[in-house]
Parts: sequence; C-alpha cells; structure tokens
Amino acid sequence: MSNAEQSTDVKALAKANRILQKKLQRSERDRVLLEETNERRLALLNSTIAQLQTSKQTLEERTQALETALSNVQQMQSQLIEAEKLSALGVLVAGIAHEINNPVSFVAGNIQPAQDYVQDLLGLLALYQADYPEPSELIQDEIEAIDLEFLAEDLPKLLNSMEVGAERISEIVRSLRTFTRADGDDFKTADLQDGLDSTLLILQHRLKANAKQPEIKVVQDYAHLPPVDCHPGKLNQVFMNLFGNAIDALRDWEATDKLDIPDLQTSQIAVQAAPLSPERVQIRIQDNGPGIPEAIRGKLFDPFFTTKPVGQGTGLGLAISYQIIVEQHHGRLYCESELGAGTTFVIELPIRQPKVPTAQVTASLA
Ligand SMILES: Nc1ncnc2c1ncn2[C@@H]1O[C@H](COP(=O)(O)OP(=O)(O)OP(=O)(O)O)[C@@H](O)[C@H]1O
Ligand SMILES: [Mg+2]
Repeated sequence: MSNAEQSTDVKALAKANRILQKKLQRSERDRVLLEETNERRLALLNSTIAQLQTSKQTLEERTQALETALSNVQQMQSQLIEAEKLSALGVLVAGIAHEINNPVSFVAGNIQPAQDYVQDLLGLLALYQADYPEPSELIQDEIEAIDLEFLAEDLPKLLNSMEVGAERISEIVRSLRTFTRADGDDFKTADLQDGLDSTLLILQHRLKANAKQPEIKVVQDYAHLPPVDCHPGKLNQVFMNLFGNAIDALRDWEATDKLDIPDLQTSQIAVQAAPLSPERVQIRIQDNGPGIPEAIRGKLFDPFFTTKPVGQGTGLGLAISYQIIVEQHHGRLYCESELGAGTTFVIELPIRQPKVPTAQVTASLA
C-alpha cells in the first residue's frame, strides 16, 4: 500500500471515530435525559401511589364511621321502639290498675263490717238457741239441712280469707301503679326499697313453687337505704330486667344440668342494698344460678346479645338497663360471675344528681 493510500485510510478512520464519538456523546445525553425523565416519572408514580393509599385509608375510615353510625342508629331505633312499647304497656297497665282500684277498695272496705254483722247474727242465733232449746220440727230439719254448726264455724273463716284476698289484690294494684308510674324529665327523690318490693311482688308468680318448678327463695336486705335522686319508673325497669334474668337463669339451670348435681341447692336470689359512701348507694342482685362464661361476659351489655332462644329474649334488657343506670343516672352497672357459682349484678348510683331543682318535693315510690 502506498503512503498516499495509507494516509487516506487514517483520515477515514479518524473521521469515523469522530462521528462515533459524537454519536456516543449524543446517546449519553439521551441516556441522562431518559434517566432524569424516568426518575421524575417514578417520583410522580410514587406520590400518586401514596395519594391513592391515603384516599383508600380515608375511604376505609369513612366506611367504618358510616357503619358505626348506621349500627348506632339501628340500636337507638330498637331502644326507642322498646322504650315506646314499654311506655305504651305502662299506660295500659296504669289505666287498668286505676280502674281496678275503686271496686277493690269497696270490696276490701266492706268486708270488716260484713264480719261484724255476721258475728252479730251468729250471736243472736246462739241467743235464740239458748232461749228456745226445743225448736219446731221444721226448724230442726232446716238446721240439719244447712248444717248450721259447720256454717257458723266456716262463715267467719271464709270472710277472713276474702279479706286476705282483697288486701292482696289492693297490694298488687298498688304495686302496678308504682311500677308503671310515668317519670317526668326531672329527677325525683325516692325510696328504692319501694321499687324493689313492688318489682318482686309483680314477679311472685315466677318465684313461687308449682307442679312444675320449686320455689325460688328471695333474701331481702335493703332496709337502710337513703332516698335517692332518680327516675323511679326507669329504675323499676332495671330491677325488672335484672330479676327477670336471674329467674330465667335459675329456671333454665333447674331444667337442665342442676338436676344431675346430687347436692341440690335451693334456687335463691339475694338482694342487698346499702350506702357505699356518703355520696353513693350500691344495690347487689345475686343469684346462685349457672354463672356466665368468661367468653361472653364482655358482650352482656351489647344490644341484641342473647343466649336465649328466639322469642324468649331480645337481648335488649341489659343494654337498656346500662343506658338507664350509666347514661341517665351517672351510675355504674357491672357483673360479677363465677361459672357454676352464680352471678351478681351490681348497680351503683349517686345519691344526689346534678341540677336537681331546690324546690323538689320528696316523693315516695308508693
Ligand atoms: N343472672 C344471669 N345469669 C346467667 N346469665 C345471664 C344473667 N343475666 C344475663 N345473662 C346473660 O346475658 C344475656 C343478655 O341479657 P339481656 O337481659 O340483655 O337479654 P335477654 O335476657 O337474653 O333478653 P331480653 O332481656 O331482651 O328479654 C342473656 O341472654 C344471658 O345469656
Ligand atoms: Mg333479660
């Protein structure tokens, strides 16, 4: 190869090299540009993902809040329906009790004079018999026909039992009126003993022994309670729920497991109430029933929580009681229970409520 040819090749190579260098520089610039664009896009993508995650979380929180609000509304609706039903029932029962009260009063009021008249007539008869020891045959036959001796002995007893019965009806009517009294918005200062007594009286038929079930013994120890600021009718509703639950638990237990236990205990409900401090009172309603398993103790006060078959329990009793004691009366309601040993529901109430008008008249529950 001649020198001239060699020099032409070198030049061509140098030119190709320059072109390649330029291309390399351009592609390097493009690469840097592309990387920068990629980084920007990645950052944008990351921020979009973060924004999406935040909105997803907000959405989840809102859904959760809406679900809570919906379930609150449903609970409130059921409690309102229940309260409405109870108040309608209360009005009905109060009306009937009022209507029964008058006729019962005159039956009860006339029995004592009737007893006096009967004693007078029997005395007079004895006098006749003493004066005329030999009555005519007609009278003699009649004396035998009506069995006068038995009649004279039985009639006062009969009147006595009528008096006891009429007194009992009056007591029940009084209790019904106490139990269904409508509470206004203001707190009243009332004796809780009366509410406990009237509730237990209303529940007598469920406590008594009959062909199918033994008696549930009730031990009452609540004589020394001070009057308490409260809505008495509402508290009666709570007592009714707690006694009702204790009776259900005891009857249920009697019907199943308890019968297998050889050392059969008498079913018992003990009610104790006493001041807890100068400011508070405590009422304990204790049964010696089956107790409540630990696993469900946390759910007892949830609306609609029930272990009873459909139709026997709505699961609202304790939820409503909790609302009455805790929210309306600023007290506490809790449960102590041991499986197999029984359950105690404890109510704590402040003796005085805030903002009670000073002119409040002391009202008895009776
Ligand atoms: N004294 C108790 N002994 C055993 N379990 C109880 C007792 N009191 C309540 N429970 C349990 O708590 C559950 C909830 O009681 P709650 O009074 O709220 O509803 P319920 O009695 O089932 O139905 P409702 O009172 O609405 O008729 C009951 O189903 C029962 O399982
Ligand atoms: Mg109940």
